Amino acid sequence: MKITGKTKILGIFGYPITHTLSPLMHNAAIERLGLDMVYLPFEVEHKDLKNVVDAIRALNIIGVNITIPHKESVIKFLDEVSDDARLIGAVNTIVNKNGKLIGYNTDGEGYVNSLKNELGFDVKGKNIVILGAGGAARGIVFAIAKKGAKKIVIANRTIKKAVSLANEFKRHFKEAEILASGIDEQSFKKYLTDIHLIINTTSIGMNDKGDLKIPFALIPKNAVVSDIVYKPLLTKFLKNAERFGIKTHSGLGMLVEQGALSFKLWTKKDMPKIIVYKTLQKKLARSGRIL
Ligand code: ATR
Repeated sequence: MKITGKTKILGIFGYPITHTLSPLMHNAAIERLGLDMVYLPFEVEHKDLKNVVDAIRALNIIGVNITIPHKESVIKFLDEVSDDARLIGAVNTIVNKNGKLIGYNTDGEGYVNSLKNELGFDVKGKNIVILGAGGAARGIVFAIAKKGAKKIVIANRTIKKAVSLANEFKRHFKEAEILASGIDEQSFKKYLTDIHLIINTTSIGMNDKGDLKIPFALIPKNAVVSDIVYKPLLTKFLKNAERFGIKTHSGLGMLVEQGALSFKLWTKKDMPKIIVYKTLQKKLARSGRIL
């Protein structure tokens, strides 16, 4: 990659930031398309968030991703926020439009796109169980409700959080049936028998820590079991589902598709996804996390 006097800067703000795969992903796409751009990681503490957001304008950075823990708190420093990001309550992408900073959220839509592109799975009219009710679940519940899912069950360890998330989105998506449940087997097993998709949005299974146990035998054989965790690519949750002969969907697709939506917002170009997938798979395999 050649840096010139005209090279445009993209980046990601988060804390910690050293494990992010976004620079690898976006720089692979930039290089393949021959763009005079570079995507850099910035470790940003909470106390510096306003200053670094202002620096996007001052340094003429064309756009950034926002990651944990700033996705919610960054909103107050922006000039404009898309309707979707406002409803989700979180921003993962900022576009610098001639000095005006506009916030978007591509996480949920990226997730829905990855189901569609990898498996040809359309969430419209489907019964879906979501495990977890944190920030990642919010974006996904929003996106699948918007795309016309029929029934959405939010199952969470802290049931109060599931209830409040379900109530909030019920107000916006009147056609969908949105329910809350505990995450223990007894509470949500009744919802499994007619599902089309179950999604783990909790951090259980990340870096092979913890094992999310659910009664796979109750899940219809034509359903999909999905995990947004991508380290390892095949989590214990997905491995167990495969043992029951159930189709699985890993978190890598969401990473790439949310990135592709951000990339398009910044560059107006389609991300070359094949090269990006290959680059990320190679990296994840090299760090001992084999597909
Ligand atoms: P994120 O932005 O990645 O979603 P988060 O907002 O901290 O992170 O949410 C983490 C989710 O994982 C929550 O739903 C959390 O459940 P609680 O609301 O009960 O805390 C869930 N989670 C994390 N560790 C868990 C565990 N060991 N067992 C069950 N759920 C867990």
